[in-house]
Amino acid sequence: MPQVAKLSINENRLQSQIDELALISENAPPVVTRILFSEADLRARAFIKKLAADAGLPLRQDAIGNLFVRWAGQNPDLPAVATGSHIDAIPNAGKFDGVVGVLGAMEAIRALQRAGIHPKRSIELIIFTAEEPTRFGLGCIGSRLLAGTLSPERAALLKDRDGTTLESWRRQVGWADGDLGSVRLPQHRYSAFVELHIEQGPLLDKEKIPIGIVEKIAAPSTLRLELTGVGGHAGAVLMPERHDALLAGAEIALAVEKAALTSGSTDMVATTGIFRIEPGAVNSVPCQAHLEIDLRDTQVRTRDCALAQIERSVREICRRRGVSSDLERVATDPPVVCDPKLVGLIAQTCSALGVPAKRMISRAYHDSSFMAQVCPAAMIFIPCREGYSHRPDEYSSPEQIKTGVTVLAHTLASLSSAD
Ligand code: GLV
Ligand code: MN
Ligand code: MN
Repeated sequence: MPQVAKLSINENRLQSQIDELALISENAPPVVTRILFSEADLRARAFIKKLAADAGLPLRQDAIGNLFVRWAGQNPDLPAVATGSHIDAIPNAGKFDGVVGVLGAMEAIRALQRAGIHPKRSIELIIFTAEEPTRFGLGCIGSRLLAGTLSPERAALLKDRDGTTLESWRRQVGWADGDLGSVRLPQHRYSAFVELHIEQGPLLDKEKIPIGIVEKIAAPSTLRLELTGVGGHAGAVLMPERHDALLAGAEIALAVEKAALTSGSTDMVATTGIFRIEPGAVNSVPCQAHLEIDLRDTQVRTRDCALAQIERSVREICRRRGVSSDLERVATDPPVVCDPKLVGLIAQTCSALGVPAKRMISRAYHDSSFMAQVCPAAMIFIPCREGYSHRPDEYSSPEQIKTGVTVLAHTLASLSSAD
């Protein structure tokens, strides 16, 4: 680690920026909801643009809306060091998921500037578009396009629940000048990527360890299921005649739970997080059900076995109930191993700073999973109270955030001084 003077992190300003951003929400505080292309999402982007302008840092936006805030290094032709995260938020979320890695990185850059550092390599803060899957059912759209693991053609055709395509949304918000194909990063744009994030699990909080260093990110997958049964009058259609789409969906949701519980893997988790029915009237037999299922494990083999088991259950349940199904694997991503050298550098940084750290797995997915496909990547976790996340009472203290920002800043200083 190079000798960097003690950095002064302005945790009060950082906390007030986190609080201010949290007020840009589709719901009243303390709930944060910022769905891609919502008015809140667009206003949050404007908030970031203003912060970058205030810091005197140039900002560029690509065709999917990823934002890049650049602190030019002494040798701007060298591959830059990247950091960043996301500012979109699922419905009924809190204020720290993603935001700590964006506003925290901005503060890390300002602290390095205040310390008089002149990095050799440029440092770029990336604010990724739609890490959350809320609008299109697929997460990490910005980073998938950057890494080239999502084709521009498929991205353009992604549809939200109203049937509006991503391409049509891009036109509506004025981003359609650029071609989605231009988002993909050229080779060697970045020498490394480090993401600061709350753990979203209980380990650091429980063990009172201020920093987690992520060695592996679990393998996520998403299924989308449309069930079509036969509707009718709730009083008139006798029970033996029914083909109720909700009941088929309910059995499937239980089969999803069972697939996780019987997988033999303690890391397997399965969630039916979306379940909508039509027509949604108390006196009408549900004719349609829409389910979205999230299934994850640290091992792709057990994850894929569970996926196959769920698919068999869908076929069996639908056959027995006379309900038709349309099942799509929206995403099946592999687990990601973080770069061992980068993990080692973060560990070294923590020990030089005297900050206890623990190597760990990320059970949540992150844009780092896709950045790992274009450059060495790793993550720095900080504790969050009780591990709560994706809920309004998500909380990390200013002190915990400050420690994370300090470790991030020193890591960026090391990476950006390397030849
Ligand atoms: C990211 O938000 C995830 O669902 O892991
Ligand atoms: Mn999230
Ligand atoms: Mn996140």
